[in-house]
Parts: sequence; C-alpha cells; structure tokens
Amino acid sequence: MSEKSKHVCPVEIAGGLDNRMRRWAQNPRKILGPYIKKGMVVLDVGCGPGFFSIEMAKMVGETGRVIAADLQEGMLQKIRDKIRGTEFEDRLTIHKCDKDKIGLSEQVDLILLFYMVHEVPDVESFLSEIESLLKPGGLVFIVEPPFHVSKKAFENTLKIAGDNGLTITERPKLFLNKAAILQK
Ligand SMILES: C[S@@+](CC[C@H](N)C(=O)[O-])C[C@H]1O[C@@H](n2cnc3c(N)ncnc32)[C@H](O)[C@@H]1O
Repeated sequence: MSEKSKHVCPVEIAGGLDNRMRRWAQNPRKILGPYIKKGMVVLDVGCGPGFFSIEMAKMVGETGRVIAADLQEGMLQKIRDKIRGTEFEDRLTIHKCDKDKIGLSEQVDLILLFYMVHEVPDVESFLSEIESLLKPGGLVFIVEPPFHVSKKAFENTLKIAGDNGLTITERPKLFLNKAAILQK
C-alpha cells in the first residue's frame, strides 16, 4: 500500500469502536490495568471516540491526566460529548493532531496506540515522535488488528520502534490481535 493511500477509519463507523460487545471482548481495564497507575499522565494517540481514553481517565484517578489525541475532529467531538458535565472533564485533555505530526511537547508515562499505527502515513517519523513524548522508562502499548495487519507488517513496525529507541519488554496476549509493550 502506498504511503498516501492509507485508509483512516471514518467517523461514521465510530459506533463500532465503542459498544457493549467490544467492552466484553476488549475490556479496557483488563487490557490496560497492569500498566496504568493512579497519578500517571497517559496519552491515547488515535483515540477515536474514546473507548480507551475514558477508562484510562478512571484508572489514573483524580491526580492523573489523560491526553486523547486524534486526527479527526469528528472523533474528538464524540469524546467531548461523552465527558461533558462529568468529573473526567478536568483530567482529560483533547488534542487535535496533524496527519504527519502529533504536535505535543509534554512527556508522558504511557502511550496507547490501539488499532492506529497502520493508518499512519510515515511510521518512521511517527514512532520517532512517540519516543520523544515519553518520559525515560515510559511505556508504549501497541495493538494492531488481525487480518488486515499481517504479522510481517507488525514485526516491521516493532523493528522501526526499536531503531527509534524503544525496546520490546512484553508481548501481551490479546485474542487474535498483535500486541507489544515497548519501553524507552
Ligand atoms: C481504527 S480507529 C481506532 C480508535 C481507537 N484507538 C480505538 O481502538 O477505539 C483509528 C483512529 O486513529 C486515528 N488516526 C489515524 N491516523 C492518525 C494520525 N496520523 N494521528 C492521529 N490519529 C490518527 C483515526 O482518526 C481513528 O480515529
């Protein structure tokens, strides 16, 4: 696939990313619970409609913070609508990325890249920016979907991450998906 033709998940199918069925199959607390502690600052890049971001906000507690970042304003609006008037408004920052730049300066404890790296046009510069956004010792949790991301493509992503200073520490088992934890 050419770099320019990479498909970005449309806002119209955001409902498929946040529903009861998915919560059962991919419980955010079970998946992220071992890595996210109270008081952490965590970043969800390619957050979509916030399926993970809002649960992350619960996990970091009142003393922590979540930055939910996405390319598409329509996805970010869905998160704003979900958290309006809730306690999460104070600990969840919404950030609009450019296609080729996340554009944050703050360093964080953990970055989640769930089902999004295969949509990024230049994975090399993206992962270099990801590394720069992590505190020393910080973690990146990458998950890619079955079927349309091959094992070879996933391993290539991990190789690029390695070339950019991120070391694989774990390969969590996530039914059918491809997953890795990397550390700065
Ligand atoms: C398949 S959705 C996954 C959403 C979310 N991570 C989840 O698992 O529910 C991929 C998301 O990544 C976003 N995305 C794609 N390329 C991006 C980029 N270069 N920077 C930031 N977000 C991006 C899309 O807009 C879309 O919301």
